[in-house]
Amino acid sequence: MQRREFVVGSLAAASAGAYLGNNLSAGESQPNTHTGVAKMPFEQPPLPYPMDGLKPLFSEEQVSFHYGKHHAAYYKNLNGLVEGKPEAQLSLDELVVKGAGAVFNNAAQAWNHTFFWNCLSPNGGREPNGELLAAIVRDFGGMTEFRKLFTDASVKVFGSGWGWLASDKQGKLEIIPAGNADNPLRLGKEPLLTVDVWEHAYYIDYRNERARFVENFWTKVNWEFVAQCYAKAKA
Ligand SMILES: [Fe+2]
Repeated sequence: MQRREFVVGSLAAASAGAYLGNNLSAGESQPNTHTGVAKMPFEQPPLPYPMDGLKPLFSEEQVSFHYGKHHAAYYKNLNGLVEGKPEAQLSLDELVVKGAGAVFNNAAQAWNHTFFWNCLSPNGGREPNGELLAAIVRDFGGMTEFRKLFTDASVKVFGSGWGWLASDKQGKLEIIPAGNADNPLRLGKEPLLTVDVWEHAYYIDYRNERARFVENFWTKVNWEFVAQCYAKAKA
């Protein structure tokens, strides 16, 4: 089985041993930490920057509630749901792809948020380059066009959900608006970038102004992380 491994975020995150999204074949043994297999108990990875590191996109209060309350609750709920059940033997990736009902909802929300935090960086916001930029130009016409399409699709998600940029195995890019906890892995696509448009993601700082939040989202996008995910999507 192919082993998929997203190295998350900044050097600080890497040095902390934070990894997201592992599929290991049966018998492949690794300690149950974030350097390896993700099996129960699932543990919320550390935030790859300080709580106030995303100012002015997010205040410290916004991040502390989002990471410390909402994201943490999905891990707690998931562990309670799978304890003593066959799902406890699956990786978080496997639960996102194969899970159903409350197990899927909590597994995907745990996965999606970890990915979201790593899509952002205190030093983010610069433009992508290289192969990723070439693909954005090829598939959307350019960065301006891509940002507009992604922003519009994300702002228009009805109710709670996520805006995703994903790639197929050939490297073709696609913008995928998704409701609730949905994730492109369910479609066989590799996530590259996401924005959380659940109200809890922005309500402390932006109240009901989702469009203003998504416009500001671009100021902290970690394009190095997106490029890493794109390279792995085609590997
Ligand atoms: Fe969220």
